[in-house]
Amino acid sequence: LKAICVTPSRELEVRDIPLPSDPPPGHVLVDMDASAINHGDKTFLARPLATGGYVPGSRHDVWGASGSGKIAMLGPGVPADYMGKQVAIYRSLSRSPDTVGLWCERAQVPYTSCLILPDHVRTRDYCGSLVNVITAYAFLQEIAAEGHKGVIATAGSSATGYALASLARRRNVPAILLVRSIAARENLRRYGVEHVILTEDENLEGKLGKLAAELGTTAVFDGTGGDLIGRIAPSLPMNSTIYIYGLLGGAAPISLPAVLFMMKNLMIRRFSNFESATVKDLRNLGAALRELQPVIDDPMFMTRIGREFDFDQISQAMDYEAIPGTKAVLVASS
Ligand SMILES: NC(=O)c1ccc[n+]([C@@H]2O[C@H](COP(=O)([O-])OP(=O)(O)OC[C@H]3O[C@@H](n4cnc5c(N)ncnc54)[C@H](OP(=O)(O)O)[C@@H]3O)[C@@H](O)[C@H]2O)c1
Repeated sequence: LKAICVTPSRELEVRDIPLPSDPPPGHVLVDMDASAINHGDKTFLARPLATGGYVPGSRHDVWGASGSGKIAMLGPGVPADYMGKQVAIYRSLSRSPDTVGLWCERAQVPYTSCLILPDHVRTRDYCGSLVNVITAYAFLQEIAAEGHKGVIATAGSSATGYALASLARRRNVPAILLVRSIAARENLRRYGVEHVILTEDENLEGKLGKLAAELGTTAVFDGTGGDLIGRIAPSLPMNSTIYIYGLLGGAAPISLPAVLFMMKNLMIRRFSNFESATVKDLRNLGAALRELQPVIDDPMFMTRIGREFDFDQISQAMDYEAIPGTKAVLVASS
């Protein structure tokens, strides 16, 4: 069985591993169709501590957190309706020492890491989706519990931004999406997203301040960091919290005058899906997956595929960044 595994020096190599054939209780075997390479797959390979301490393990050191495929076998205790279904998978939803990670031809995961896809969608179109959808879902749960009524997403045209826009609309939570280009704004508008502001707009601060005050968007879903936070912070309503969940802005520092913290009771903290109450509590996770299953065919949740690669092309796939916002996808051969 072909798999892409991580070496002790944190490089990736293609290996032959034993075929999993007898799933333990609560686990399923999945014949993998494809795996999108998400930012986390790269970040945690290079910087394992970026997870905040949790290092996902896999038998045979198979790498990869996202994918999709078809359930081939159920272990004891798995509900029968999973059998034969196509599923989107996010490995970090459930931790298990019996996991055989996703960048291989047949994965073994707890069934609670899988979301059943409807028969009418193409499995591959959701090979990177579940991580982003569950992140946006868990975030909306968390900010609701903390009393926020509206949200600003800084990486509006990212997969997590799209997931947030769609899920917020379904809950009637006002959302403002910030994007870097007119094309990105038009794409979101085509999906009926109402409040989209260009970060290049000379009057970003004024427009955002007015709309944020009107809509009460006190939670910031920040996938970028960097100077954008410094630009928008003065426009945020009182009692806003900036939740940093992504690092698209790279190492650019965040710079803010201290007086903002005093004036606005501003807070900055991290958000991590696998530290969220949605993912950590099995009952919450079950409820989330049940709520997401009937809506997962939303086109806003689809993985934007840039290029497909065979396992043997793993180096090129990891380097692929040709079209921003699209993902490299590893395609299992069998
Ligand atoms: N903490 C968690 O639980 C969690 C979960 C999932 C993802 N993440 C993280 O969230 C971030 C976003 O992931 P994703 O998969 O949603 O991203 P993605 O789909 O690859 O989105 C990339 C797009 O974001 C936009 N963008 C905005 N500001 C950017 C900037 N400063 N640099 C680069 N692109 C920027 C760009 O759109 P335009 O080209 O249209 O401007 C770019 O095409 C990543 O850092 C990822 O690791 C964290």
